[in-house]
Amino acid sequence: MCGIVAYIGSSNALPVLLDGLRRLEYRGYDSAGVALLQSGRIDVRKAVGRIANLAEEIEKNPVSGQIGISHTRWATHGAVTRENAHPHSDRSGRLHLVHNGVIENYQTLREQLIERGHEFHSQTDTEVLAHLVGEAFEQSATQDKGSLVEAVRSALRQVIGTYGISVVHADVPGVIVGARRGSPLVLGIGKDEHFLASDVSAIVAHTRDVVYLNDYEIVALQAEGFEISTVSGGGAGFQISRVEFDASSVDKGKYPHYMLKEIHEQPNTVRDAMRGRLSLEEATAKLGGLNMTNSELRAVDRIVLAGCGTAFHSAMTGEYIIESLSHIPVECEFASEFRYRNIPLQRDTLAFVISQSGETADTLAALRESQRKGHRTLGICNNVASTIARESDGGVYMHAGPEIGVAATKSFTSQLTIFTLLGLLLGRIRHLSHSEGRDMIAQMEKLPDLVARTIELESQVAAIAKKYAQAKNFLFMGRQAHYPIALEGALKLKEISYISASGYPSAELKHGVIALITEDTPSLFIAPRDAVFEKNISNIEEVKARKGPVIAIGTEGDTALKKICDDVILIPDAPHYLSPILSVIPLQLLAYYIAVELGCDVDKPRNLAKSVTVE
Ligand code: AGP
Ligand code: GLU
Repeated sequence: MCGIVAYIGSSNALPVLLDGLRRLEYRGYDSAGVALLQSGRIDVRKAVGRIANLAEEIEKNPVSGQIGISHTRWATHGAVTRENAHPHSDRSGRLHLVHNGVIENYQTLREQLIERGHEFHSQTDTEVLAHLVGEAFEQSATQDKGSLVEAVRSALRQVIGTYGISVVHADVPGVIVGARRGSPLVLGIGKDEHFLASDVSAIVAHTRDVVYLNDYEIVALQAEGFEISTVSGGGAGFQISRVEFDASSVDKGKYPHYMLKEIHEQPNTVRDAMRGRLSLEEATAKLGGLNMTNSELRAVDRIVLAGCGTAFHSAMTGEYIIESLSHIPVECEFASEFRYRNIPLQRDTLAFVISQSGETADTLAALRESQRKGHRTLGICNNVASTIARESDGGVYMHAGPEIGVAATKSFTSQLTIFTLLGLLLGRIRHLSHSEGRDMIAQMEKLPDLVARTIELESQVAAIAKKYAQAKNFLFMGRQAHYPIALEGALKLKEISYISASGYPSAELKHGVIALITEDTPSLFIAPRDAVFEKNISNIEEVKARKGPVIAIGTEGDTALKKICDDVILIPDAPHYLSPILSVIPLQLLAYYIAVELGCDVDKPRNLAKSVTVE
């Protein structure tokens, strides 16, 4: 993961770098550092922890310069210490490098470098790369821009793994060299200034004109221009894209946390996921991005959905939604397993990878593995400029806007909305009638209002959160499509409040989980008025018989739950294919308010990062 920001131009680089790093903090926040070049020397500042700590450090010990690189780290190799914080330097101390990714053969390279007299000061894989580039530069005949690019090229040819890097050298003061393989890197084009960043959000306040670098590309940045070449030595074409969102869409606005802002955005984000995609006339969904004809879609006889974390839970929910609407068998796979499990895919299997960021390493690898086997593989992504969006054979964008809170919220409900669209489209090609299709569309059009009404339960959920915040263990239960929602509720609570939580299908309770029930272990049941409502009631009774406290999510107008549960949250009634989009919202709010009550850092939970770009 990690975030990189680099600047070269005529302004003071420091505010650009620090502001950019703050916007990338969601990518990692173990430590941070900057290297600024001025008058032929490079000054480095580093601090363990957040960007705020780095800013404090710089206040005590100021630096400035018009050229600089910077980094916020999510440690993969080496503990969270100042020594392991980036930038790392070569043995001359004149070259500095920041890196996002993992150098898999770093041990071998390190041993070889040690034999050649190099000394290391950190435990990171990154420092090896700095030494390799530095050594190649030392050996070059001239000490200019061309030789720095060549030194980077020569080092990258020796490494196995993933990288997004930025390099500066005190002997070549007018240039920054960047390169990528597997980790994102975007070039920002300004007037007599240029930027590099892991994500456009870091630089969008300064420029909207960007070039998304491809794997194995190297860029040499100067104030007045840039050149792109490849690791193998050839030239490379590029396309300048215009970024559509502005810096304000990545601000918290009136909310104390991004997560709360993003929860509140959901009436709009589910609307945006459907916008222009419902055709009343044909009573179906239009998903042109799939790049498939109706007869190709009709031939699909199996669907595989792959994702990680929350995207995996959405895939599990999608399995219920798509199967019930289209009658096509759906299977879900953890993207990390998909890439190694060699699952059989038949000719008419349609594979989807699901990823908010579009940069998750395991999901990207699943996409590539599926494509390598000759399968059409589609993406469901939020980040339109991401690697998965670019490499998939088509797909559906979420259009949810930037999601910054590490805990995914709005991307999840957008994904579920897209599965409903897919179910409608595939169902209408097969067995759903025109009037059934129209009925579904009428229901879907009500969704944004239903989501807004569910969010209005916020103060009630906040009070319940206060009551249960001290619990050490939580159980989440639901049936059918609400079972993966239970898993998602448990994940939300674990990741932001650090309370141990697990999700189960309600009926599994009696097969072992019930042993966990005590007066201090709250169980949350998702029990809307559906075909299995009575079954859920029996499971709730089993918990109550053992004195376990129960919170239930039910349907507006329900009176049965109130009689047996300790706390009841009633959400609007909705058809089975939309109900999970509503039932997850109280769970997002519950996790949020428990984390706030416990004083946890909601947007940046410990040990996590938003975008997991390492395996
Ligand atoms: C969700 O709250 C998590 N932070 C995490 O599980 C996340 O959903 C997962 O890493 C996948 O991310 P992606 O959607 O960007 O691929
Ligand atoms: N491997 C590098 C480190 O541990 C970079 C980590 C990353 O990109 O997440 O410092």
